[in-house]
Amino acid sequence: MNNIEILIVDDDPRGRKLLASYLKPKGYDVLMASSGEEALEIAAESTPAVMLLDVMMPGMSGLQVCRAIKENPATRLTQIMMVTALGGEDDRVEGLDTGADDYIAKPVPKAEFLAKVRALVRARTLMGELDQARQELEKRNRELELKKTLAQTLVHDLKSPLTTVVGNLDLLDRKVGFHGEVSLRRARDGADRMSRMIMDLLDVECLEDGGLEPVLKESDLKALVLEAVDSHQTRSDQQGVHLNVDLCDETCGVEADAALMRRVLDNLISNALAYSSDGMEISVEVSRCPEGVKFSVADQGPGVPAEQSQNIFEKYSRLDLSGAATRKNRGLGLTFCQLAVEAHGGTIWVEDGPAGGALFQVLLPELAVGEESAIEETNFVLFPARVATAEDQVVTQVV
Ligand SMILES: Nc1ncnc2c1ncn2[C@@H]1O[C@H](COP(=O)(O)OP(=O)(O)OP(=O)(O)O)[C@@H](O)[C@H]1O
Ligand SMILES: [Mg+2]
Repeated sequence: MNNIEILIVDDDPRGRKLLASYLKPKGYDVLMASSGEEALEIAAESTPAVMLLDVMMPGMSGLQVCRAIKENPATRLTQIMMVTALGGEDDRVEGLDTGADDYIAKPVPKAEFLAKVRALVRARTLMGELDQARQELEKRNRELELKKTLAQTLVHDLKSPLTTVVGNLDLLDRKVGFHGEVSLRRARDGADRMSRMIMDLLDVECLEDGGLEPVLKESDLKALVLEAVDSHQTRSDQQGVHLNVDLCDETCGVEADAALMRRVLDNLISNALAYSSDGMEISVEVSRCPEGVKFSVADQGPGVPAEQSQNIFEKYSRLDLSGAATRKNRGLGLTFCQLAVEAHGGTIWVEDGPAGGALFQVLLPELAVGEESAIEETNFVLFPARVATAEDQVVTQVV
């Protein structure tokens, strides 16, 4: 009970004395004010747990004091009990409306009064804890936001030196050829993987915050698939995996962000390769269907268990952490794919492939006529144009 301060506010010394005589034997620290003005001064200095407030006082009334205490963030947690005249129902109602926490009528019944004080002290303690937790949460949130921004900036800034590395490796390739230099090819593969991870990380954050809108243009999905497959040809040859492409006869143009869709394809093919081994086949198909355009990537690897078919699209989810392929990965690729496909109004899902393994399917809808014209007027930028830096110049100087 020690150090619980209770402030009695009453212009009548007899009223103050009576309440003090009830409280002091219970161990409360009693403070006293003979006017509303004095009460506000004391409350600002010592923030008592409970204030017992007489309604009728010359100068500031109890109701005015109550409002001032509850409006001030520094004192608003102080619990207020209005001490009203017997039958003063209007005062009680107005007091509660003004923010008072309880009331008691004069002549004050001792036992009930002390019980109400105890309840208010408990409420003050709980509210203090709640307020502290809220402040702590706000502080943590600010720190997290800061960390997130720092991490995003760092990841974003990695793009520029990586572009330099890739550019220089390409120049070296033209000079000496990757096939003759295994270490060069490995360096290029590593740089490609890093660049995909960086882009996935940045885009997942951006898509989640709603800050990345696809730049929709009429895109030929068949051409995109051919490009994506072609870029994985060297890796699939090295693994002894056969990459099949099956394009339907119809045109497969769709309003899509070609850069985003290309990366969806890259992620799906890259995953299929990660779970395929020598002699297996990967089939990439594109077809037109009544709802729009569909493309799929099927492999003959271990597949995805049905109960995990939703989880794998969650951020940082990886099913088997034992394989070498997954040790390098971060479980962001499919999250990116899902966000990018959904930003097109499409859907992505996984099921069992016809020859075992996983079959990832993407359905991109046809756009309504109204939406198409709206897209024409929109000029979203996928990534802010990067200003060339001194580092970029190295690309032209290295060899
Ligand atoms: N074709 C597949 N066959 C079997 N499991 C797969 C396949 N594709 C994805 N998975 C499972 O889903 C998980 C998530 O895939 P996702 O592409 O999001 O992340 P990742 O490949 O582990 O890392 P990264 O962020 O580099 O892409 C994988 O770790 C794997 O467990
Ligand atoms: Mg992946």
